[in-house]
Amino acid sequence: MGTAVVTGAGQGLGRAISMRLAADGHHIVAVDLIPDTAASTAEMLNGEWRQCDVSDPESVAALADSLDQVEVLVNNAGIWIFAGMDAMTPEDVRRVLEVNVMGVFYCTQALAPLMGPGSAIVNLSSNAAYSNSPGVGIYPPSKAAVESFTRQTALELGARGIRANAVGPGMILTEGTQANYEGEMGRRRARAVPLGRNGYPEDIADVVGFLASDDARYVTGQVIYVDGGLSAGRAAL
Ligand SMILES: NC(=O)c1ccc[n+]([C@@H]2O[C@H](COP(=O)([O-])OP(=O)(O)OC[C@H]3O[C@@H](n4cnc5c(N)ncnc54)[C@H](O)[C@@H]3O)[C@@H](O)[C@H]2O)c1
Repeated sequence: MGTAVVTGAGQGLGRAISMRLAADGHHIVAVDLIPDTAASTAEMLNGEWRQCDVSDPESVAALADSLDQVEVLVNNAGIWIFAGMDAMTPEDVRRVLEVNVMGVFYCTQALAPLMGPGSAIVNLSSNAAYSNSPGVGIYPPSKAAVESFTRQTALELGARGIRANAVGPGMILTEGTQANYEGEMGRRRARAVPLGRNGYPEDIADVVGFLASDDARYVTGQVIYVDGGLSAGRAAL
């Protein structure tokens, strides 16, 4: 197993994904905007860490310069701003698109040259790309762009033996979502999920682990929603 680079690895899904890929035998490079959290993930997994802002092409170029071969790239870093279309400022819109869309593009473009046949890219989309929700403005469209870019990556890198897929989480309890998915509000939301509960980071990490592995060697350009069935329909209103 080679090096796995995980962006947004300091907490939440990125940390759980790093743990799963480390358990599968990968050497982890934990990348985050916040150096302390990246360092603590790396320390936990005997890996390395880098501070990087995925929305800044120069920062991403420095990340790529610091690496040799990469076998797995997980474009997990992403943000959302709770504001509807009427309340979002141009700066809000720009920031979400810069991190969620351009960040995935910059990291893929910079790290793909370090990847060889058998390598895999996994991007984090959201079930919001498939089934929009109110109050998050540009976030669902940003994830729809991630899914389109995943297919584009599969097309452009397929001939080099590099696969690209996406995972679309539903409502997963992380540091970033706990204000919304914990307590009574979380229990109310969970009733809508066909499997009857909100998700845990490990639910996502295990599917990312599969897509990154040789078990998925003939799977590319796909999106798997890991949302307890929410994309099939709501179990309750
Ligand atoms: N948790 C959910 O319910 C859920 C649902 C659907 C999709 N997602 C997606 O999964 C991914 C991870 O979500 P999470 O809940 O773990 O989020 P989180 O907020 O808990 O963690 C995100 C991590 O990304 C880092 N980050 C943010 N901007 C960055 C940047 N510009 N450069 C580098 N690192 C940056 C943060 O510092 C943080 O460590 C995101 O792409 C998110 O959109 C999450």
